[in-house]
Amino acid sequence: MDLLRGVIDPELGSDVVDLGMARQAHVADDGTVTVTLALTTAGCPLRAQLQNDVKARVGSAPGVSDVRIEWTEMTPEQKAHAMARARWNAKEVAPPTAVPSTARVRAISSGKGGVGKSSVTVNLAAALAAEGRAVGVLDADIGGFSVPRMLGLEGRLAGDQSQRKIVPHTTAVGPGRLEVVSMGLLAEREDAALMWRGLMQNRALQHFLEDVRWGDLDDLLIDMPPGTGDVGMGLARMLPRAEVVLVTTPARAAQQVAARAADMARKTYLRVAGVVENMSSFTCEHGTSYALFGEGGGAALAAEIGAPLLASIPLEASVAAGGDSGNPVALGDGPAAEAFRALARRLVEEAPPAEAMAGCSARILERVEEALGPKPA
Ligand SMILES: Nc1ncnc2c1ncn2[C@@H]1O[C@H](COP(=O)(O)OP(=O)(O)O)[C@@H](O)[C@H]1O
Ligand SMILES: [Mg+2]
Repeated sequence: MDLLRGVIDPELGSDVVDLGMARQAHVADDGTVTVTLALTTAGCPLRAQLQNDVKARVGSAPGVSDVRIEWTEMTPEQKAHAMARARWNAKEVAPPTAVPSTARVRAISSGKGGVGKSSVTVNLAAALAAEGRAVGVLDADIGGFSVPRMLGLEGRLAGDQSQRKIVPHTTAVGPGRLEVVSMGLLAEREDAALMWRGLMQNRALQHFLEDVRWGDLDDLLIDMPPGTGDVGMGLARMLPRAEVVLVTTPARAAQQVAARAADMARKTYLRVAGVVENMSSFTCEHGTSYALFGEGGGAALAAEIGAPLLASIPLEASVAAGGDSGNPVALGDGPAAEAFRALARRLVEEAPPAEAMAGCSARILERVEEALGPKPA
């Protein structure tokens, strides 16, 4: 049951034990664990995701040979209890944000800088938009913003005076679009934001979550600053349904820092969607592959934290060149571009569509927010 406390319902921002969904866990002598999970409705589209998360989390414990799940449905009283928990979370934990409830929110994180968080953020965003999606990009790396340069954006963000909101920089990408906010589009000079630190960074994230006039987003990607402290905690408080995508290099050292980031995600109740290994093997023009930064770090981290390895992005000059020139490689050709597009498709396929969630536990929060009345000004 302790392990199951690590399985998070991202929409409700609480774990399956707390919500009364995990009923019991039976451990047989041969190491087979049978978990009983109760859903609010039998057809809940989060079922597959919950199943994966429970299997990964419980299956990673030593001595476990197999994980089986028995499904049941909640009684009306049990639903009322889950509802009460969700209401408590909505009121006590999560202040209102301007992020549309339909947007799937992913925080691109790592324990340290230079592993490719920003490169993954902009390329994943471009690949998702190229699929026809409306994608928000929130550059939360206030002191070291690089999103504007990597997307070739210049100028300053406009304000909507009547609503007192920041208007994101919007660009069409194929049938989709990108909506971008960054300190780099607010500061006068590139180095002007360097004074932002610590709490100020958190305050800026809050500002971007509450005071931006986002459109009807399908996805919101947050480029997190390096380190795991304040900003991760702040995000968990402000947007508990955010999920974490951990970026790591194939090296062991990077993996240890990323594991700390995963630990932070667990403590803050943010669901870890998976691991992206970046700067994987480099293939030269003769077709020979070199593991310049080591090997297997992504897979090892994924196994350690019980989350999937979502993608391995090769080390490729075109990734850096695309970042420098403002033309994301994901919109071009080559193995790295392919890897980014496959990552985008995988995330889209795994996310249950918003309209299918009505009536399921995942949408309880929305109804709670409605019941709580209008958001304070
Ligand atoms: N797969 C890759 N292949 C080649 N260069 C990369 C790759 N990923 C990132 N880079 C380069 O590495 C540097 C650091 O990446 P960046 O995305 O800024 O990391 P972070 O945001 O984690 O600090 C940048 O110069 C970027 O262009
Ligand atoms: Mg960065």
